[in-house]
Amino acid sequence: MAREFTRVGVVGLGTMGAGIVEVFARNGIDVVAVEISSAALERGRVTLTGSTDRAVAKGKLAEADRDALLSRVDFQVGLDALHSVDLVIEAVPEHLDLKQRIFAELDRVCKPEAILATNTSSLSVTEISVATTRPNQVIGIHFFNPAPVMKLVEVVRTVVTSADVVADVEALCERLGKVDVTINDRAGFIANALLFGYLNHAVSLVEARYASREDIDAAMKLGCGLPMGPLALMDLIGLDTAYEILDTMYRRGGRDRRHAPVPLIKQMVTAGLLGRKSGRGFYTYERPGSPKVVPDEQTPVTTEAALADGARAIAKVGIVGSGTMATGIIEVFAKAGYEVVSVTRGAEKSAKVCEAVKTSLNKGVVRGKLSDEERDAALGRVTWSATLDHLADVDLVVEAVVEELSVKKALFASLDEICKPGVVLATTTSSLPVIDVAMATQRPADVIGLHFFNPAPIMPLVEIVQTIRTSAETTATARAVCAALGKTGVVCGDRSGFIVNALLFPYLNDAVKMLEASYSTADDIDHAMKLGCGYPMGPFELLDVVGLDVALAIQRELYLELREPGFAPAPLLEHLVTAGYLGLKSGRGFRDHTHR
Ligand SMILES: NC(=O)c1ccc[n+]([C@@H]2O[C@H](COP(=O)([O-])OP(=O)(O)OC[C@H]3O[C@@H](n4cnc5c(N)ncnc54)[C@H](O)[C@@H]3O)[C@@H](O)[C@H]2O)c1
Repeated sequence: MAREFTRVGVVGLGTMGAGIVEVFARNGIDVVAVEISSAALERGRVTLTGSTDRAVAKGKLAEADRDALLSRVDFQVGLDALHSVDLVIEAVPEHLDLKQRIFAELDRVCKPEAILATNTSSLSVTEISVATTRPNQVIGIHFFNPAPVMKLVEVVRTVVTSADVVADVEALCERLGKVDVTINDRAGFIANALLFGYLNHAVSLVEARYASREDIDAAMKLGCGLPMGPLALMDLIGLDTAYEILDTMYRRGGRDRRHAPVPLIKQMVTAGLLGRKSGRGFYTYERPGSPKVVPDEQTPVTTEAALADGARAIAKVGIVGSGTMATGIIEVFAKAGYEVVSVTRGAEKSAKVCEAVKTSLNKGVVRGKLSDEERDAALGRVTWSATLDHLADVDLVVEAVVEELSVKKALFASLDEICKPGVVLATTTSSLPVIDVAMATQRPADVIGLHFFNPAPIMPLVEIVQTIRTSAETTATARAVCAALGKTGVVCGDRSGFIVNALLFPYLNDAVKMLEASYSTADDIDHAMKLGCGYPMGPFELLDVVGLDVALAIQRELYLELREPGFAPAPLLEHLVTAGYLGLKSGRGFRDHTHR
């Protein structure tokens, strides 16, 4: 007979615990909510009522339902109140000794048949379970932040957890409207094992002043469609909790340096900058616990005047190349009102690009995004040429030719001879060092990277890559141009992968390694990242779209430049590419697409 859960206990009403209480009470289950002191209990109560009041204000919860929900919660100080519950979920800080102490106590207090669960993110459920006399009734129930919103629950069974306990907890998750993935006890389970290396890496970029917090967050939101950037997410998780998770993952997960907490995290924790809960972390919040970011001394000024400050005037733009990126970029500049000179390697290619731009603009008209007049005006601004000499009087050149260093260097050397002084020379390279291209000219201070994303007319992000020789004036000009194009320009250094690829591809590679180690299935890993972290696609879905060969090439570059052992391409990825399984484009990648 399956267990009935009519009354559950939650221990610790912090970031996670308060949300977990809400999940149970919303689903008609009585909750005994326990804290260590009356002050902490009061904080938990305020978090819960704040959250339910917000749900009422947004029309997501009826007032009567809120009142019923709150009436199901019995707030208590001390574990003794848990004597009659069927299940306890512990959500106290991420310290093994603390959790072990609490489990020993729960074992003493709770009735013999009660299930004892931990919400730990990274600690060993097995080690926690042996603090009790009933390790077969101990399990991990890992909710995601914010618990009332995120659909995923990772159910973690140890080698001794009884099968019926696992089955009962899985049924409970379903009753709570959650999707569960059941997995074994390994550091970080699925989602955190893939997430925290990425978060730590993002913090290291801030620490190295490689890019600003705003630019890193904007890059991941706009470049990958993530619900929030990594630094905003660190603030939501709590820096103290994130530190403990990283530290445990480093120690339990094979001492991967990428999990060794970046020193800045410890410094911030010591300084009391814990994220949203303390009102300040990477960002500053209206007050402790508030999700509202307020400006502080690091907030950049983004007014039009500030953006134009120090920028050169740009009216006429040359775009070199005839591929997908060049075509999209011509459209973007022409639509934004710039005079455009397109240069390809021959009249035939020019005709093709012209046709492609027309087709795309016509689509815009059909979709109602552009009027006939606007389309005609945009096309009227473009002149088509097959010789670089026509770039003599442009103010900015955007190069989007084939991704080969020798070709790009030769082109930049020619541009150096042809273009007038003061022109900004930009490359759209996604993987080559911009400095190599810059040094092919006599004016490296005027050279910069403008990394557009595909499809350029749609993707809102541009990475502005400054080399160690790029002048401030050139960067200011690039920023102003991006703003005029209606794009978000993020400024970063000239390192392999810039911001987006450097943070995205190692995560994808880690997912492949997890699959290779048979820890979980591609479906469960995809589910975990979508439902636990709000990603628009799971890693295997994304790899099949991006192309496994492309992913492998980028990962190899990152590995070669940074020499980080953890960045070594997953052997499975190499094998799939060798076998010709490249993803959607070849009909098969991690999944078979031939029957769709
Ligand atoms: N923050 C996240 O995003 C997140 C997500 C999933 C899981 N987790 C895990 O959830 C657990 C809790 O993390 P958090 O971020 O909510 O921490 P938190 O610091 O926000 O809250 C912990 C709460 O536990 C209370 N507490 C401490 N000792 C106690 C005791 N002896 N008895 C009762 N209550 C006690 C504290 O007063 C505090 O309110 C950790 O294991 C963490 O790894 C966190």
